[in-house]
Amino acid sequence: MVINLFVMKPALGRDLSHAIGCLRLKLDIDSQQYKTGLRTIKTMENIIEVNGLEYSYGNFKAVDGISFFVREGEIFSFLGPNGAGKSTVINILTTLLPVQKGSVIIAGYDLATQPEQVRRSIGIVFQDETLDRDLTVKETLELHGRIYSMQRDERRRRIDEIIKLVELEDKRDVRTRNLSGGMKRRLEIGRGLMTRPKVLFLDEPTIGLDTQTRRRLWDYIKLVNDSGTTIFLTTHYMDEADQVSDWIDIVDHGKIIASGNPAKLKNALGRDMIYLETSDDEASMNMLKGLKAVMDVKVAAHGLAVTINTDGTHCLPLIMNRLRDGGIRIIGANLKKPTLDDVFVHYTGRDIRNAGVEKLHRIQPRRSR
Ligand SMILES: Nc1ncnc2c1ncn2[C@@H]1O[C@H](COP(=O)(O)OP(=O)(O)OP(=O)(O)O)[C@@H](O)[C@H]1O
Ligand SMILES: [Mg+2]
Repeated sequence: MVINLFVMKPALGRDLSHAIGCLRLKLDIDSQQYKTGLRTIKTMENIIEVNGLEYSYGNFKAVDGISFFVREGEIFSFLGPNGAGKSTVINILTTLLPVQKGSVIIAGYDLATQPEQVRRSIGIVFQDETLDRDLTVKETLELHGRIYSMQRDERRRRIDEIIKLVELEDKRDVRTRNLSGGMKRRLEIGRGLMTRPKVLFLDEPTIGLDTQTRRRLWDYIKLVNDSGTTIFLTTHYMDEADQVSDWIDIVDHGKIIASGNPAKLKNALGRDMIYLETSDDEASMNMLKGLKAVMDVKVAAHGLAVTINTDGTHCLPLIMNRLRDGGIRIIGANLKKPTLDDVFVHYTGRDIRNAGVEKLHRIQPRRSR
C-alpha cells in the first residue's frame, strides 16, 4: 500500500511555493516491510518553457501568444473549454505541428531545431484514438518499444508490467479492433507509459472511462510522476485536476487567462458560501446584509445561503457571533468553499461539464481502414 501524505502545499506565489518545495512523505507499507522516504517533489528546473507561442489554421488564430512553463517533476494541468487551443498546443509541443511563432524548450532541447531529441524525451496519449486495429494488445506495445529502440529484455518486462497495470492480461493476444472503448483507452495510456518518458502528455486521458478505471489509472500516473516523470495534462474532469495538479493554467480563445495551484485558484475567487439554518431567517438576513464581508444573502431550501467575499473559515465564527448577539439561535451552519468547477465557470463563463458532454459526443466512432 502506498500512502502519499502532503505535508505542505503552500498557496503562495509560485516561485516561493516552488522554492519551499512540497514535501511528500511517502510511506510504503508492504506487508511486514515498512519503508519511509522523504523527498522534495519540486526542483527549480523548468522542463518546459513556452514563450510567445502562436498558431493559426489559415486565418484562424487558435493559439494567441501563449507563454508558460512547467517545473520538472510536477503534474501540470492545461484546462479550458472546447476549442480553447489545448490540443493545438500539445500537438506543437509534441512536434506534430510546426512552431509558427514563439519558442519552446523541452527537456533542454529547442523544439524548432532539435525536434528529434524532444521526441525522445516525451510520451503522448492523444485525445483521439490512434491504435492500429489489426495489432494485438501485446503487439501494440511491442511495436512502440521497438520504435523507441528499447532493449529486448526491458521491452518484455515493461510490456508485462503495462498489460498487468491496465488489466488487459486476458486480452493480451486480442486485436485492438475487438476491445471495448475503455479497454482501448487503457491500452493507449499504457503505450504512452512504455518508455517512461521525461514528460508524459495526456490529452484527455480518462474521458469516457468508468470511475473505477479512472481512479486506478490516476494511482498509476501518480506513481509514474513520483518516479520523476513530469505530467502535462488536459482534462474536463475538474475533480481529477483538483486532486492531482501541482499547477493549473486555464486557457481560453488561445490565451492563458488564469494560473495557480488549485488551492490558490479556488481561494482567489473569494466567494465562499455559508448555509445557515436559524430560528429567524428574515431577521438574520437583515442583520447579515449589513456586514462588510457579506456579498449576498438568499433564501435557500433550508434556511439562508450567504455569499461572502472573504475566507469563510475565518468569517463563519464572526457571522455566528453576530447572529447570536442579535438574539438568533443557530440551528445549523455549513461552509462550502469554491470548487475548481466554480473557478472554471468564473474565468471562462462556461460550465466544464457542458464542455465535457460536448466532448464525449466528439469521441471517435470506430475508424475503418
Ligand atoms: N486542423 C484544424 N483546422 C482548422 N481549425 C482547427 C484545426 N484543429 C483545431 N482547429 C480549431 O482550433 C481551435 C482550437 O482547437 P483545439 O483542438 O486546440 O481545442 P481544444 O482546447 O483541444 O478543445 P477540446 O476541449 O474540444 O479538445 C478550435 O477553434 C478548432 O476548431
Ligand atoms: Mg483537445
